[in-house]
Amino acid sequence: MGAPSPYLPGLATIMKIEEQTAMEKLFVVRPNDGKPLGHKPGQFVEVSVFGVGECPISVSSAPNKKADFEMCVRRAGNVTNALHNLKVGDVIGIRGPYGTHFPVEDLKGKDLLFVAGGLGIVPLRSFINYALERRKDYGRIIVLFGARTPADRLFKAEIASLARRPDLEYLETVDVGDASWKGNVGVITTLFPKFTIDPKKTYAIMVGPPVMYRFAIAAAKAKGLADDHIIVSLERKMKCGLGKCGHCQMGPVYVCQEGPVFNFAAIKNLEEALS
Ligand SMILES: Cc1cc2nc3c(=O)[nH]c(=O)nc-3n(C[C@H](O)[C@H](O)[C@H](O)COP(=O)(O)OP(=O)(O)OC[C@H]3O[C@@H](n4cnc5c(N)ncnc54)[C@H](O)[C@@H]3O)c2cc1C
Ligand code: FES
Repeated sequence: MGAPSPYLPGLATIMKIEEQTAMEKLFVVRPNDGKPLGHKPGQFVEVSVFGVGECPISVSSAPNKKADFEMCVRRAGNVTNALHNLKVGDVIGIRGPYGTHFPVEDLKGKDLLFVAGGLGIVPLRSFINYALERRKDYGRIIVLFGARTPADRLFKAEIASLARRPDLEYLETVDVGDASWKGNVGVITTLFPKFTIDPKKTYAIMVGPPVMYRFAIAAAKAKGLADDHIIVSLERKMKCGLGKCGHCQMGPVYVCQEGPVFNFAAIKNLEEALS
């Protein structure tokens, strides 16, 4: 018998579902073989809802020895809507983990500036929690988080406890406030004048909507960060996750293989990268 098809998903069971906002749910998933995924922060899995289809979703939990892992899913279309309709105990398919990861080893000893726009907090949460579990391995940790409105803020309770930590600097803003919101209002780049960094030892790790990158990269560079001190994660439409179908192609680059995590210095001349 030949090797099993790489397109064949493993089975996994939904252990817990937590509503985060009107659009996003957090799923705790356990592979039925009981083995941990073995992912690194920044990687994604291909998730299938049987009879509907498959889509790429970032792993949001930090790697650990347990089999359970977390994904936060926004309703966007066929597969993500079907996922939102599932219940605890339902079985889904999981392939992966796939893609490149944040350079968690290379960044040891460095100051980390996380820039999370909207759903970008989902993959960054894996690295933030990874770094906090190894707090002595990293220098300063600064987290910037921007959401469209207070109602769109993900991981509210977790963020509140992050914000209270003395070993982490946390700044947050919303594009549009409401009567209950007492915090910053404005796009994420309006947070940059509120802190200083040592550009020689700081690395910015950014994930957000396409429109965020151009402005957040400019703001990071204005703080003295060199191109190779900026790490981004790019979303492209993906299908196979295996470098076969070409759906994720960005010029000569297959994002599912060479990304989604890139050093900005390596892709800054790729026209399609940040558009
Ligand atoms: C590496 C990677 C990691 C991702 N991580 C997450 C995550 O953690 N949480 C999450 O909620 N979403 C994540 N996404 C986006 C998610 O894959 C899409 O929302 C999903 O594929 C939509 O599939 P669907 O069948 O629900 O929607 P469809 O019915 O296929 O389409 C709905 C709409 O979404 C657009 N769309 C389809 N596929 C994508 C895509 N891959 N990226 C952007 N837009 C798309 C379509 O053009 C259409 O407008 C990630 C995407 C990538 C590439
Ligand atoms: S998703 Fe198929 S080649 Fe990248």
